[in-house]
Amino acid sequence: MLKIQNIHTRYGSVPVLKNISLHVDRGEIVCIIGANGAGKTTLLSTISGIIRPYQGSISFMDTLIHRMSPDRIVKMGLSQVPEGRQIFSPLTVLENLEIGAFHRRKRDGKKKIRQDLEQVFELFPRLRERSGQLAGTLSGGEQQMLAIGRAFMARPSLLLLDEPSLGLAPKLVETIMKTITILNRQGMTIMLVEQNARKALSISHRGYVLETGRIILQGPAADLSEDAEVRRAYLGRDYSSVTERS
Ligand SMILES: Nc1ncnc2c1ncn2[C@@H]1O[C@H](COP(=O)(O)OP(=O)(O)OP(=O)(O)O)[C@@H](O)[C@H]1O
Ligand SMILES: [Mg+2]
Repeated sequence: MLKIQNIHTRYGSVPVLKNISLHVDRGEIVCIIGANGAGKTTLLSTISGIIRPYQGSISFMDTLIHRMSPDRIVKMGLSQVPEGRQIFSPLTVLENLEIGAFHRRKRDGKKKIRQDLEQVFELFPRLRERSGQLAGTLSGGEQQMLAIGRAFMARPSLLLLDEPSLGLAPKLVETIMKTITILNRQGMTIMLVEQNARKALSISHRGYVLETGRIILQGPAADLSEDAEVRRAYLGRDYSSVTERS
């Protein structure tokens, strides 16, 4: 579904991504783990067209997308939930969700969009209760739910999530992770960037480890959880709670 070949990305003259190749197959949850500054967000922004790679290629559903505008890439079915939420603060929860479905209005019609809205409210009942509230006044966790809900409203076939658990209480992290698996079971393919390696690996099929702009390890999530280097660098000492995907 997504195929990245030998991507190099720079900010000015500073290289950030160095010869990255990876793929995501339809139906998978694939996680990217790595420390602060490893290049995870840069990788997602390169995929979604916000940053242009200076070398290499990216194809999505057999179409080259690395020279396309972010808008066209979204229309092809690839949506990103950016790091730090980035919801529209002066708009209400409902308006934010409607904006998510904006480019589908003609294609799918109001009824289909209403059904999807209903599903977002079922996944996150808190958003239903607060549908008329200004998004900027939501709590951090509620804003994160809204950001995921808004991306869902675009009905992407591939959803890119940048640190969805950042700064959330453990219980809410569980809710977000559960929601990701539910969306995946419904047929959404997911690429997940996380510093919380334990959580990410527990719900993913496969993973890649990014270190200073290079992929240093890759494999099935269960194998990565067992890898000595991953355990030392990303799982800390208490790795007993890494569970296999159910
Ligand atoms: N717009 C920019 N201009 C210049 N350098 C940048 C820019 N954005 C990111 N960088 C640098 O590129 C490197 C990778 O940043 P990136 O945001 O991709 O890391 P990350 O893995 O997402 O980190 P984090 O876990 O902290 O979110 C960092 O050294 C960062 O300082
Ligand atoms: Mg980041």
